[in-house]
Amino acid sequence: MLYGMAKDYYVPDEINLVKRWVPVGDWLHSRGRHGLEPYQKSTSGSIQPVTAGRLRDGTAFEGVNFASQDYLSLASHPRMIEAAQHAAGKCGVHSAGSSSLMGNSALSIALEQRLEAFLGFKECTLFPTGWTAGFGAVKMLARPGDHVVIDILAHACLQEGAECSGAKVHRFPHLSNTAVERRLSRIRAAEPRAGILVVTETLFSMDSDSPDIAELQAICTSYDATLLVDCAHDLGCMGPTGRGVLETQSLVGKVDVLLGAFSKTFGSIGGFVATNFEGFRSAMRACCGPQTFTNAMTPIQAAVILEAIEIVDSAEGASLRAKLRNNIDHLRDQLKRQGFKTIGDPSAIVPVVIGDSGTSRKMTHHMILNGAIVNLVESPAVARNQSRWRLQVMAGHSDAHIDRLVEQACATRQAFERVSA
Ligand SMILES: Cc1ncc(COP(=O)(O)O)c(C=O)c1O
Repeated sequence: MLYGMAKDYYVPDEINLVKRWVPVGDWLHSRGRHGLEPYQKSTSGSIQPVTAGRLRDGTAFEGVNFASQDYLSLASHPRMIEAAQHAAGKCGVHSAGSSSLMGNSALSIALEQRLEAFLGFKECTLFPTGWTAGFGAVKMLARPGDHVVIDILAHACLQEGAECSGAKVHRFPHLSNTAVERRLSRIRAAEPRAGILVVTETLFSMDSDSPDIAELQAICTSYDATLLVDCAHDLGCMGPTGRGVLETQSLVGKVDVLLGAFSKTFGSIGGFVATNFEGFRSAMRACCGPQTFTNAMTPIQAAVILEAIEIVDSAEGASLRAKLRNNIDHLRDQLKRQGFKTIGDPSAIVPVVIGDSGTSRKMTHHMILNGAIVNLVESPAVARNQSRWRLQVMAGHSDAHIDRLVEQACATRQAFERVSA
């Protein structure tokens, strides 16, 4: 229970396809019973810097919250709640159809237009979640006979889209533009007319780092490859005006395909795909499975995201981003001062490497039960022995919340140093 991962318990030679998975569930249950499975937590109220909730076995917890994706603290912003209530009163709560039929609402159409202006792209297509946007775009763009060249750490929705596309998938070492260029040159030499999709993220959520996107776009253009970048974790909360890492790299509106999610900064769920090609949206409506054959986002989602963009794009947004950045710097400073290993660049994600899976599972449980709510990320999401807390900072955190987290991290580390001594 201290070591291993879910796939170690899967039984591939069991003839009943459901039963194959039962030992995986049993293993997770028994980890939960022994306080070694910090997943499937639930909250009992709104998302706040201090929150209460329950572990999967019902054990209650309460404490400073560094486990929610609400980077600008918009989840409970009064204007967002009012927007949701107003939309529900005016439009009801359901989209009642796919966007290819009659699932769009005046609000979702307005959101697509608002996003186009905000992002600097000619066309933006909404999806009900970020996952469906990523999976759908990659799977639609690449076909059998094509090539997908993808960062080894790119998000699961992009990896699974690549696998399901039928194209040949090439994984390149994290952030290595040199490796991309080498690969593109080999593919082009052998197949001058093949389609090539290069996939990366503007900010990686496990390591909190970014590629040189201008250089990567230039490499792609020179080999007639299409670049797709996912900005789920930085749009809205980074860059002087909230346009994310693309803004800090002077690339707003200038990559081939931009993909994003509203679940981190924009207080809702939903995703989008943006390009500068008029006509691509209509093709997506008709020929992209997770667009064509799923219900469109609800009017409530669209209204809330529209309101979030207004906040992000205002002086209030700028001051929330400044507050977030101060919090990130304070948290990183305090952790470093106490000898913790943080990696990556400053962003709302602060990865703290703990090490082996056994120790990190025990330490995570200890943190949560002692009032410091964190998420654990372990293999296969990150390399073995690189298990980490993926701390997620909010604009609404105060120095006192951050200090409390670091104080508890020190106490937890000390408790386990005593045990292993
Ligand atoms: C980089 C990235 N892309 C896409 C997604 C999927 O977004 P959503 O959770 O909004 O469906 C995530 C979510 O974790 C993500 O981290």
